[in-house]
Amino acid sequence: MKIFREKDYDAMSRRAATVIAGEIVHNPACLLGLATGSTPEGAYKYLVDWYKQGLISFRGVLSVNLDEYKGLEPSHDQSYRYFMQSNLFDHVDIAPENTRVPDGLTKDALAFCAGYDAYIRAQGYVDLQLLGIGRNGHIGFNEPGDCFVKETHVVDLTESTIDANARFFATRDDVPRQAFTMGIGPIMAAKKILLIASGEEKAEAVYNTICGAVDPHCQGSILQLHPDVVMVADEAALSKVIAAGVKV
Ligand code: PGA
Repeated sequence: MKIFREKDYDAMSRRAATVIAGEIVHNPACLLGLATGSTPEGAYKYLVDWYKQGLISFRGVLSVNLDEYKGLEPSHDQSYRYFMQSNLFDHVDIAPENTRVPDGLTKDALAFCAGYDAYIRAQGYVDLQLLGIGRNGHIGFNEPGDCFVKETHVVDLTESTIDANARFFATRDDVPRQAFTMGIGPIMAAKKILLIASGEEKAEAVYNTICGAVDPHCQGSILQLHPDVVMVADEAALSKVIAAGVKV
């Protein structure tokens, strides 16, 4: 794993955006795996800026998102489809039909998940997968548990995730209890992974991901087995790793 240690959130965001922009420049028809949450917002701002300056284009890019709340319609302002439209898609030249975010209102979840995996496989897998990390070590919405689930599936969100995401909703009760998430299989099949983290509250998860045993109770730890992971994190997120004496 290659680790970029950045001073703060803005430097982390800029560095992460350069990795994504580099992929787009080298491979204009790439399949990008995209993530939502507070962590990637800054990187998306840089990408929109660079698009507006004419430095990059998303014209040939395909995208597939990691996850979506089950039960939220795409127009809901906390849905991940809404997040992607307002933070990236509406501001760049990506073709709407080239973007995929799980549909939170899907009725036949099993068929939908199988189709999502089949689409990713048919494209020859994701070229660059962007990942945030949960305070509990989740990647996508793959929550801590006794195993790594390979396929895209519906997951029950843990109390820790519901607590973490309650800040986006009017009340904690409004946070959906289930979500669709890309499984560990398609994530690990990505040719390259860009893992981003910011803030002290991620320090434990980052430490377990980088330095812990490969253990489904920290789903991010599986990334130690991937041959091409770039981690971009700020000093607060790396604080436990740094305190342990690991050179980053
Ligand atoms: P965050 O979420 O970026 O909002 O902290 C990350 C995640 O849960 O994967």
